[in-house]
Amino acid sequence: MVNNPKYVEPAEDGTIRLLGIETSCDETAAAIVEDGKNILSNVVASQIDIHAQYGGVFPEVASRQHVIAIYPILEQALQQAHITLDDVDGIAVTQGPGLSGSLVVGLNTAKGIALANRLPLIGVNHLEAHIYSAWLDSDDKAIDREPEFPLIALIVSGGHTELILMTGHLTYQRLGSTLDDAAGEAFDKVARLLGLEYPGGPSIQQAAEIGNDRAFNFPRSWLDDSWDFSFSGLKTAVLREVRRLEKTDLPLPVNDIAASFQAAVVDVLITKTLKAAEEYQAKDLLVAGGVSANKSLRQRFLDSSEIPVHIPPLFLCTDNAAMIAGAGYFRYCAGQRDQLDIDAFPNWPVSELA
Ligand code: KG4
Ligand code: ZN
Repeated sequence: MVNNPKYVEPAEDGTIRLLGIETSCDETAAAIVEDGKNILSNVVASQIDIHAQYGGVFPEVASRQHVIAIYPILEQALQQAHITLDDVDGIAVTQGPGLSGSLVVGLNTAKGIALANRLPLIGVNHLEAHIYSAWLDSDDKAIDREPEFPLIALIVSGGHTELILMTGHLTYQRLGSTLDDAAGEAFDKVARLLGLEYPGGPSIQQAAEIGNDRAFNFPRSWLDDSWDFSFSGLKTAVLREVRRLEKTDLPLPVNDIAASFQAAVVDVLITKTLKAAEEYQAKDLLVAGGVSANKSLRQRFLDSSEIPVHIPPLFLCTDNAAMIAGAGYFRYCAGQRDQLDIDAFPNWPVSELA
């Protein structure tokens, strides 16, 4: 075990410059970010085309693709930022949650760089990183100021649906999460049922654009007073409808089903999030994760919330390493420095963050 990395003086101008590395699922990504907000570079190599033929992420293939892609992606991230590793103050890397074989590739790469360059290593929770994507600067940011606390954060990704109360930086109270499928997972599964391409979110969104969202009255799971979510009943209802329609001679109304399904997911996500914001007197709302790229979800949040809604620009909604370096900065400032023997946490809920 190697102890304490060297103490790193921040850059002369006082900025902290972190290299972020993300390999939790099917994107190999590296980025350089200053002070948790200024993105100097943000390089993402997506494996979507490779996994699309399997209709979902094939974990073994994903790990091996990360091994192939990680080094060139790192080089590009440094080149695009016009810096070398000598100009970096630390390495932030996704430690979990995610696919274990994929996480290990990023984690070991980060450890190697940290060891060779005697740089601090910071293990980052991927969900926390989605939250901190809201602090990153970009020209097309919905609101041109940082989120204010207390805030309600809704994280909607391929693996998670989390409703979180944040009363300060790095301070989370998990109010609810999904009892079965994650929101993104529901999009992916329903897309497959409808014969649409992986990943399902963008395919459903596109199909829904010319569909009637009232054509089918799919169920909304409100789960009474709980802040939890459930999407498996909705998925089953879509399945039943598809099977019923397949028995007729008529063509499957894919666009109407997609639109009606999307409306059901968006209804539940928005209603519960706005209710939580009211109950906890939140100053701001924050929506993040791959599903926050959804046009209808974004528009309805902006139209129906009385408080400001922070939603990252599209390129920061889906997995990227800028958000890892972003969250890493706040952890760095809190004094987090990890040892070189840290392990991957494939299941690492936000509620367990110290
Ligand atoms: O955050 P993310 O890139 O990876 C995980 O951490 O899981 O989220 C991926 C998920 C996938 O389920 C994908 O179908 C969904 O985000 N997604 C969308 C859209 N774009 C991506 N869902 C709905 N509408 C979209 N436009
Ligand atoms: Zn993600």
